[in-house]
Amino acid sequence: MFIANGLGEICMDAIENILSRKSVREFSNKEISEQDLKTILTAGMSGPSALNMRPYDFIVIRKKDLMEQIYDENGIYYAPLKQANVGVIVCGDIDKAYLAKDGYWIIDSTIAAQNIILAANALGIGSVWLGAYPEKQKYLALQKLFSLSNHVIPVAVIALGYPLDDKREIRDLYEEEKIHKDKW
Ligand SMILES: Cc1cc2nc3c(=O)[nH]c(=O)nc-3n(C[C@H](O)[C@H](O)[C@H](O)COP(=O)(O)O)c2cc1C
Repeated sequence: MFIANGLGEICMDAIENILSRKSVREFSNKEISEQDLKTILTAGMSGPSALNMRPYDFIVIRKKDLMEQIYDENGIYYAPLKQANVGVIVCGDIDKAYLAKDGYWIIDSTIAAQNIILAANALGIGSVWLGAYPEKQKYLALQKLFSLSNHVIPVAVIALGYPLDDKREIRDLYEEEKIHKDKW
């Protein structure tokens, strides 16, 4: 089912969306529209958050040379960024987080990242999560490149773009042995 509102046309088949998501590492050069990008970023800000602190910020990158620079810094695992149309660096901000419980900022930021990925998939846009935190070398390189304060920590870089191969399929990743009914 689709609805149209101020954010554009939104896919509402949530289960199909979750089950059809997969990492996409090769992208066409089709542009992601500003409207779709706004929908994706809105989804990023729509997850649950400890004490509703929402301690995250997003750096949105369209400049190709900047994506190349990030790849140069962080290496082969970041290769999909070279073809991406948009990169989103999801940063956790320790100063904005629920400090009484150390670590919730990471959880809040990763929920934001996953929501970005799922919203993109719903719009037919592929994505892959490129790891930053807790790999010190990677998040420090990003902090340096974007002159971030120490309390702003890049958690994930999400490469976004229209898939080169846009075959979508529902995957069944259910594993019965991971389910523990009423006891372990
Ligand atoms: C925390 C995290 C870090 C990841 N880092 C990378 C990465 O640096 N480069 C990459 O190509 N994929 C990365 N991935 C994507 C995983 O490789 C991918 O999710 C996994 O192989 C399962 O495949 P799927 O996403 O298609 O289901 C990362 C995923 C997560 C959750």
